[in-house]
Amino acid sequence: MISKRIQAVAAFIPPAKSIADVGCDHGYLIIEAFRRHGVDYAVAIDNKEGPLASAVKNISPFPFYKQVRFSLSDGLCDLSEEVDAIILSGIGGHNVLEIINSGREKVRDARLIIQANRDLEAMRAGLAKLCLSITREEVIKEGRRFYEIIEFTPVDYVPEYTEIEYRFGPVLLKEKSPVFREKLEKELERLKNISEDAPEIGARIKEIEEILW
Ligand SMILES: C[S@@+](CC[C@H](N)C(=O)[O-])C[C@H]1O[C@@H](n2cnc3c(N)ncnc32)[C@H](O)[C@@H]1O
Repeated sequence: MISKRIQAVAAFIPPAKSIADVGCDHGYLIIEAFRRHGVDYAVAIDNKEGPLASAVKNISPFPFYKQVRFSLSDGLCDLSEEVDAIILSGIGGHNVLEIINSGREKVRDARLIIQANRDLEAMRAGLAKLCLSITREEVIKEGRRFYEIIEFTPVDYVPEYTEIEYRFGPVLLKEKSPVFREKLEKELERLKNISEDAPEIGARIKEIEEILW
């Protein structure tokens, strides 16, 4: 059973026909990409033997197995193909930033589809400095957890965003979807339980309340 989170990340893939999945682990995202989103070539990358072996095992029963190149390598080091989209999902924001920073030239014209587990603010800011513009964002909820999926598109300038846009996401802020609102309401509740009096917490509460109004 492919999780709602993986399905949501995979839904960002079209119109890409070729993808690289960095940190592919079990390979479920690649399976979803071939079966439901019209992908015809994939590079499955992981820097650990166990996870990559698991991707080979899970993908090998499918007819598209031969259209996948498996690579035991770090980040974008071994990405020689020009792919339409590069996916980094289920890893930390600082790790994403490190991977893209050290392999920026390998991105070429590919869109980046990122679902980072933490440090999204620093990641958005760092990737913008690398001439990557935020073109699509979605927040989904699976169980009790929220996940943000962000698409970055390479541009030939350094896009500028405000501090609040880095923190909450420029597209999410514009669209204010019901799930985004729910996420902020939960965060508001959490902050209020800590203390409304501490100046730093008070400022965060005010910021979120202003977005929700
Ligand atoms: C938590 S799993 C996420 C798997 C899958 N992408 C998902 O969203 O469910 C993270 C995977 O990324 C791999 N990984 C972490 N840093 C990496 C790097 N620099 N290069 C390649 N793979 C990496 C880990 O070995 C691990 O298999």
